Amino acid sequence: MSGLLAGKRLLVTGVITDASIAFSVAKLAQENGAQVVLTGYGRLSLVERIAKRLPEPAPVIEVDVTNNEHLAGLADRVREHVDGLDGVVHSIGFAPQSCLGGGFLDAPWEDVATALHVSTFSYKSLAMAALPLMSPGGAVVGLTFDATKAWPVYDWMGVAKAGLESASRYLALHLGKQGIRSNLVAAGPLRTIAAKSIPGFDQFEEAWAERAPLGWSLTDQEPAARACLALLSDWFPATTGEIVHVDGGYHAIGS
Ligand SMILES: NC(=O)c1ccc[n+]([C@@H]2O[C@H](COP(=O)([O-])OP(=O)(O)OC[C@H]3O[C@@H](n4cnc5c(N)ncnc54)[C@H](O)[C@@H]3O)[C@@H](O)[C@H]2O)c1
Repeated sequence: MSGLLAGKRLLVTGVITDASIAFSVAKLAQENGAQVVLTGYGRLSLVERIAKRLPEPAPVIEVDVTNNEHLAGLADRVREHVDGLDGVVHSIGFAPQSCLGGGFLDAPWEDVATALHVSTFSYKSLAMAALPLMSPGGAVVGLTFDATKAWPVYDWMGVAKAGLESASRYLALHLGKQGIRSNLVAAGPLRTIAAKSIPGFDQFEEAWAERAPLGWSLTDQEPAARACLALLSDWFPATTGEIVHVDGGYHAIGS
C-alpha cells in the first residue's frame, strides 16, 4: 500500500452526509493508504449508507460522544476491525438553536452546556476512549472555526470552539509524553448540515467570497481534509497544540 497514510489505521467521527468534512477525510485517507473505521451518531443506517460510497466500504460504530457507555466500549468495538489506531479524527459539533443566530445573550445554561459537552469536552473524551489503542507517533486531529474572534451569528458555538482550541493544547500537553500529537484544522465556511443549522450562515459565505485572498469554495471540503491528512501523517512529527488555517487566507486579512 502506498500513499501519505500507507498502513495507518484511523478512527474517523462525524460522517452524516457525503458533504461532511469527515467524509472527505475518510475518502482521501483511504485513497492514501489508510484503513478507516467510522463512527456514526443518531441515524446509523444513513451513515452506513454513506460509508458504502467510500472507495472501500468502512465499518461504522455507534458513538454518541455524550454517552459514557459508548465511550467506555469504544476501544473494544474498534478492535473488532483493527488491532490499533494511528489516528483519531474529531469532526463533531452541535449547539441547540438558542445558542446560535444572535441568541448569545438569552441562551440558557442547559443549552450552552449541551453545546460545550458535544463540541468541546468530547474532544478529550474521544481521545481518552481511543487512547488504549494508540502508541507513540499517533495523532488526534479536530476541526475548528477560528475562535480568536467573535463572529456574528456563531455565538455560543464560537465559545465552544475557543474551548476546543484550548482543549487541544491541553491534550497536546498531557499526551505529549506518550508521543501523541493533538492538532486542529481551522476551516473556512463549508456547506454541511452543521453549517446549514446556523441561522445567518450566508453572512460568512459572502464575507469569504469577498475577502479570502486565495478565494474560497463553499462546497469543496478537500482542502480542509488534505490538512487533516497531513497532520495525521508522519510529516508533522514535532508539531502539536497547533492550529492550521485552511480558509483561503481569510484569517490573515484585516477589514
Ligand atoms: N462547515 C463549516 O463551515 C465548518 C467550518 C469550520 C469547522 N467546522 C467543524 O467541522 C466539524 C464537522 O462538521 P461539518 O461541517 O462536516 O458538519 P456535519 O454536519 O457533516 O458533521 C457534524 C457531525 O457531528 C456529529 N455529531 C453531532 N452530535 C454528536 C454527538 N453527540 N456524538 C457524536 N457525533 C455527533 C453529527 O452526527 C455529524 O456527523 C465540526 O466540528 C464543525 O464545527 C465546520
